[in-house]
Amino acid sequence: KPSHQDYKVADLSLADWGRKEIEIAEHEMPGLMSIRKKYAPLQPLKGVRVTGSLHMTIQTAVLIETLVDLGASVRWASCNIFSTQDHAAAAIAVTGVPVFAWKGESLEEYWDCTLDAITHNGNQGPELVVDDGGDVTLFIHKGFEMENGDTWAQSPSSNHEEQVIKNLLQRVGKERPGFFTNVVKAWRGVSEETTTGVHRLYQMVEQGKLLIPAINVNDSVTKSKFDNLYGCRESLADGLKRAMDVMLAGKLAVVCGYGDVGKGCAHSLRAYGCRVAVTEIDPINALQAAMEGFEVTTVEDTLGRGDIYVTTTGNKDVLTFEHMSQMKDQAIVCNIGHFDNEIQVDRLNEAKDVSRTNIKPQVDRYKFGEGREIFLLAEGRLVNLGCATGHPSFVMSNSFANQTLAQIDLWANKDKYEKTVYRLSKKLDEEVARLHLEKIGVKLTRLTVDQAAYLGVDADGPYKPEHYRY
Ligand code: NAI
Repeated sequence: KPSHQDYKVADLSLADWGRKEIEIAEHEMPGLMSIRKKYAPLQPLKGVRVTGSLHMTIQTAVLIETLVDLGASVRWASCNIFSTQDHAAAAIAVTGVPVFAWKGESLEEYWDCTLDAITHNGNQGPELVVDDGGDVTLFIHKGFEMENGDTWAQSPSSNHEEQVIKNLLQRVGKERPGFFTNVVKAWRGVSEETTTGVHRLYQMVEQGKLLIPAINVNDSVTKSKFDNLYGCRESLADGLKRAMDVMLAGKLAVVCGYGDVGKGCAHSLRAYGCRVAVTEIDPINALQAAMEGFEVTTVEDTLGRGDIYVTTTGNKDVLTFEHMSQMKDQAIVCNIGHFDNEIQVDRLNEAKDVSRTNIKPQVDRYKFGEGREIFLLAEGRLVNLGCATGHPSFVMSNSFANQTLAQIDLWANKDKYEKTVYRLSKKLDEEVARLHLEKIGVKLTRLTVDQAAYLGVDADGPYKPEHYRY
């Protein structure tokens, strides 16, 4: 059980191990390390209260220490109940940075940790937020609206979770009246890591509900076209292997969704020797998958023959209870999208004729009546962080370099930004990429003055127009 100082982690004695892995990661994260070198002397976040809600992994530890190096006063929680690496959390906690995260939190504990992470100095909130999936943003907005008698339609992933949040908000309402209204007064912005969190932000803007400026980090090219794609290309298989030790070659894998994450997953599984079928709702992505040689079909069409199912859509109810009840015996079902509502896990757990056997943490077997069995990984939460350790450091250095630049920018321009969603400039995007070239031995060609004039670009960039898609 976690201890109750100004941190809550599983086991502080794991700190030395965590520190050794952080040191290894630093060598793989040249983006973050050069940002430290450039900005630490300038202290652009000096004294700024920052709350992070982002998978508490080794890579995130390097991000946290970068923000601290830039002067920030940081508190952190994980953005998923299963994604914390306990040795990373311990290593951060012993440095005196309050972290509230352990692997295997209950939903109640998860939201308590989120509240702890946003509570600075006992009664203040964050000035800046680093969010992944938008839970801190959702929580503060819901708290604010509760205190100000407003109602807001946007909901978390399940009814149960909604109730957990309501209960917690009511408790805060009694113990600290007006807390969220004060938090919002001092809150100057959020930088959002992932596709799903970004969707939430744009929905809030449309509803006129967004209370602070936001930077969409996900849609930096050096984030979504790298982390979502190449990150998942490695960490999906890591999750499947650690959970099930399954031979992938020869199996039929079904990847639902062919966006950035789906592309990484489908190509990874094919490289292992899977036959891969893809499902899509968007004709452009469906055509892309077909042109890459994947079978593009519906989930229904694969039932009885698919061995492995992976949802990558950021949508809900993609694999239904009915789908799962008709799957081939011993099929493996998992999700790599942000929330667990891609798979109808609640209906699976509530069904009368279905029995559940836990094999080990984050691996469950479900038996339908006296018949077929399927395996569900990480209770339907993101498999690469639930069953493995998420993406490798090098790709996260790209994502987190964007996060750090976004935090610096939000603070530097806090009086200019409106309450809407921004992206970082292409110039910064190119800069993030540039910071990662040397480490992997890339020799970049330089435009001549003549060539630059011919293309109509500056020899130092930006090299592409905004509409270019990479
Ligand atoms: P995306 O928008 O590029 O791709 C999602 C795709 O799913 C789209 O092409 C869409 O047309 C398709 N889709 C939507 N509903 C569908 C349905 N019912 N059936 C089949 N296809 C459907 O989004 P991206 O960037 O690929 O992210 C997907 C999810 O993964 C998001 O929840 C995101 O937050 C999450 N994510 C998870 C990561 C991880 O490490 N586990 C890393 C990055 C993102």
